[in-house]
Amino acid sequence: NAFTVDRNSWGFRRDAVYKNFLSIEGILEQLVTTVSCGGNALMNIGPTHDGRIVPIFEERLTQVGSWLKTNGESIYNSKPWTHQNDSSTGSVWYTTANNFVYAIALKWPDGNTLKLGSVKTSSTTTATMLGYGKVDFSSSNGVVQVTFPNLPLDTPLMWAWVIKFEGVTG
Ligand SMILES: *[C@@H]1O[C@H](CO)[C@@H](O)[C@H](O)[C@H]1NC(C)=O
Repeated sequence: NAFTVDRNSWGFRRDAVYKNFLSIEGILEQLVTTVSCGGNALMNIGPTHDGRIVPIFEERLTQVGSWLKTNGESIYNSKPWTHQNDSSTGSVWYTTANNFVYAIALKWPDGNTLKLGSVKTSSTTTATMLGYGKVDFSSSNGVVQVTFPNLPLDTPLMWAWVIKFEGVTG
């Protein structure tokens, strides 16, 4: 999936307006959905004729770098899992690596509770939010409910949140 941050151009153009640029949320959606389905993502920006990277592109690149610094283990060297997006919360996308299953939430869940219909937990399952730590979850009637925590103020901004499961099946 080769995509351009300026939706309408591979190169720099002076007449681009703000709404032409993908938001960081839009970029992470491209990245996460592509990787979850087994693809590669290529993110394009265009420098000016004299080689400068304008601030909007610099910001998007910095944001993606910052997100990957915390959450990259759900992306790099991952493979598609049994399910791609969750059967109950379609904006959650899965990857797997080293026997961990990563549920990547593109939206912060209503009521701070993420409902997952595609994972089965057991008494040995653990759940961790990358960049935070262990999170609580419960399971009943085939739905796993993960409690999203109050993030400390010094948590890096994330835009998409990754729950790393150990010991789940699909
Ligand atoms: C999973 O993603 C696809 C593609 O975006 C979408 O059509 C589908 O509705 C999603 N599944 C659920 C359960 O929302």
